Amino acid sequence: MPIEISPLTAPLGATVTGVDLSESLNDEDFRKIHRAWLEHIVLVFPEQNLSDENQVTFTRHFGEMPDRPVHSKGIKSDHQIHKSVMLVSNVRENGKIIGSLPDGEMHFHTDGAYEINPYRYTMLYALEVPRQGGNTLFANMYRAYDTLPEDLKTRLCEAEAEHGFYTGSDVSDGMKQRLRISDYQNSARHPVFIRHEETGRTSLYVSRLLTESLTGFPEGESQNLLSQLFDHSERPEFVYEHIWNPGDFVVWDNRCANHARTDFGDSERRMLRRTTIQGIGPERARVPGRG
Ligand code: SIN
Repeated sequence: MPIEISPLTAPLGATVTGVDLSESLNDEDFRKIHRAWLEHIVLVFPEQNLSDENQVTFTRHFGEMPDRPVHSKGIKSDHQIHKSVMLVSNVRENGKIIGSLPDGEMHFHTDGAYEINPYRYTMLYALEVPRQGGNTLFANMYRAYDTLPEDLKTRLCEAEAEHGFYTGSDVSDGMKQRLRISDYQNSARHPVFIRHEETGRTSLYVSRLLTESLTGFPEGESQNLLSQLFDHSERPEFVYEHIWNPGDFVVWDNRCANHARTDFGDSERRMLRRTTIQGIGPERARVPGRG
């Protein structure tokens, strides 16, 4: 059966069917998936049955996996086949969380923005999901940039922002407390408008969870501008909400999508396997007529 790409009725995303990712794919299949990924930003492969090995094999077709363990205080799976494979889970065994990013809601963010070289892609495979909630939201950051008021584009055309590890300014103390699950502390500075190195398109690169400040702006002004950018980029018309089923494999492009998570009950089990691809430092986009 040929691979079929069906765009979602949403501002980003497509479903990919007619492919079993536990089997080896040919180069043409990978090229097709890569093209669809660049176009749709988020791809949903439903009803997959993926072992760790299958997921890592698929992941490696799209670049290098990070050459370091991912930040995690959780216990790793016994048969971890690559140090950067991460279990996203709230499941506790003997009172200890077995994964990372365990509980509840998470504000919008893009993976690894606190690194000089953030992750290019993230891929999540659903093993167990709550009956309700724990959905993942994806925001189209090309669209967020395209529709930004012109005065903000002009004002911020050369701006850079500081990103930290779960220290974003709009994160409540309770949320910070819950998310500070690691001693891992990093920060990095990136342009506010970045050029996607493959599509050449411009996207807005800030997020409520991770962006701390705009470099060189007085504190009040920086927070005010960031709030405007966060509110704008999270408008419902830019967002797709994925309601998980076990067996869903969802992959996204961190250069042009932010993601968030809705709340879910403490008594619900949630377990997903995450892989990532190492990216490069984002390049500043040229805003036409402004620099
Ligand atoms: C993540 O932010 O990488 C995890 C998202 C999720 O748990 O839905």
